[in-house]
Amino acid sequence: MQVVTTIEAYRKIRAAMRGRGARVGFVPTMGALHEGHISLVRRAKERADDVVVSIFVNPTQFAPHEDLAKYPRPIERDLRMCEQAGVSVVFNPGVEEMYPGATGQAEAMLDVPAISAILEGESRPQFFGGVCRVVGKLFNIIEPNIACFGKKDYQQLCVVKAMTRSMCWPIEIVGCETMRESDGLAMSSRNVYLDEGQRKRALGLSRSLHEAKRLIEAGGRDAAVIEAAMTRVLAEHRLRVDYAAVRRRDLEPGAGAMDFEKGVVCLIAAWCDQVRLIDNMEIG
Ligand code: PAJ
Repeated sequence: MQVVTTIEAYRKIRAAMRGRGARVGFVPTMGALHEGHISLVRRAKERADDVVVSIFVNPTQFAPHEDLAKYPRPIERDLRMCEQAGVSVVFNPGVEEMYPGATGQAEAMLDVPAISAILEGESRPQFFGGVCRVVGKLFNIIEPNIACFGKKDYQQLCVVKAMTRSMCWPIEIVGCETMRESDGLAMSSRNVYLDEGQRKRALGLSRSLHEAKRLIEAGGRDAAVIEAAMTRVLAEHRLRVDYAAVRRRDLEPGAGAMDFEKGVVCLIAAWCDQVRLIDNMEIG
């Protein structure tokens, strides 16, 4: 496994891959890797000859009050996990490499797809701008044939698909299932912030989604009623709800009524004290 920190060093490796006719699979991450990230690596390996993982805590997707400074950065452990998973190259740039001159406010930037404005975008207005900015740069650097994203960040997956389509990038975006702990909690780098009591209350997210699933499978078709039931389960776990929503699978708000027979997605963001957690479930 090769570990590179500069764009120039990566490009030499990429040229050699091209020489061998290798198909490149890409898994962008912010590190603090867990089994969820590794499941994306495994998926990429099934579909490509070489897997490239990027580890970069992207400052532009954090608001000033968010957890950029304390975001976990266990790089040695991350590298061992990548090595064990059979990753070919880890791209681990510094902030200056990705954003020359502070965070490059004078840079040319992509506009974000419209669905960036809803759900996560309402609570975190800068978030998808930062994600699109860094993912766009990473795609141009890594030049992957496919890129794997987790459904754990369902809206992010939709936004990245929309951006890739808009920009005509020849990259296949692969959505991968959410990996969970045995009790149902979605794996997340931010779970390390939870103490024992909070960890138990955090189960309210997956329980709330299961309640939504139960109602829909029992014939429930009123989104407002389902959302109220989700909110109730979250409140029972003393979680402060940011949103609990039932949406079309493509998250498009306007284009036609929600069709439960075609399938919906239930999405949650909730605060467990100071820790913001998200989860979702596709139903039907
Ligand atoms: P990060 O939170 O590190 O997640 C990297 C990738 O792992 C994302 O595609 C995310 O959806 C996926 N992932 C996280 N938890 C998962 C789980 N439990 N099961 C399956 N996949 C999971 O998402 C980001 O980083 C950043 O926004 C990034 C795309 C790297 C841009 O900076």
